[in-house]
Amino acid sequence: MRRTNVALVGFMGAGKSVVGRVLAARLGKTFVETDSLVEQRAGMSVAEVFARLGEERFREMEASVVREVAGGCDCVIACGGGVVLREENVSALKSSSVLVYLEVSAEAALQRIGPKSTVRPLLSGPDREQRVTELMESRLPVYTAAADVTVSTVGLTIEQVAGEVEERLKDE
Ligand code: S3P
Repeated sequence: MRRTNVALVGFMGAGKSVVGRVLAARLGKTFVETDSLVEQRAGMSVAEVFARLGEERFREMEASVVREVAGGCDCVIACGGGVVLREENVSALKSSSVLVYLEVSAEAALQRIGPKSTVRPLLSGPDREQRVTELMESRLPVYTAAADVTVSTVGLTIEQVAGEVEERLKDE
């Protein structure tokens, strides 16, 4: 693998963070999460950034964090679900990372996210199922286009997904 980072992309609930932690340990890389880095810098939660500063400001902070980690940290990077929406993020990541798209169905995502919407501002409205379906539909082509490798997560344990990603990285 020439690129030293592994960037996990995909929808909310795909398991980017939990799989990322396991994968980083297996590969001997540092684990980082774009959401956590934004939170550290902002001094508030992602939900608070959305509520107080707005989504656009969040996206700017997110892009700045992506630029930094894509600069090369020998990391497994769990990217927030919307990172791929900005082309500049995708090209920054591509320069140093293998992009792994973790696929999840709307049903599985909803199940994993659970009923609480406080941590995920995009799903705080009334009809979460419809919102997830619509958002997922509009983003699927973007995830697919960005991905070097696609791994399905439905019906698999965290360990199994991490193992599958590790296997697939050998060809990259
Ligand atoms: C978002 C996903 C979230 C977080 C923010 C926006 C999105 O991250 O960055 O709420 O646009 O899909 P996770 O994918 O880790 O939940």
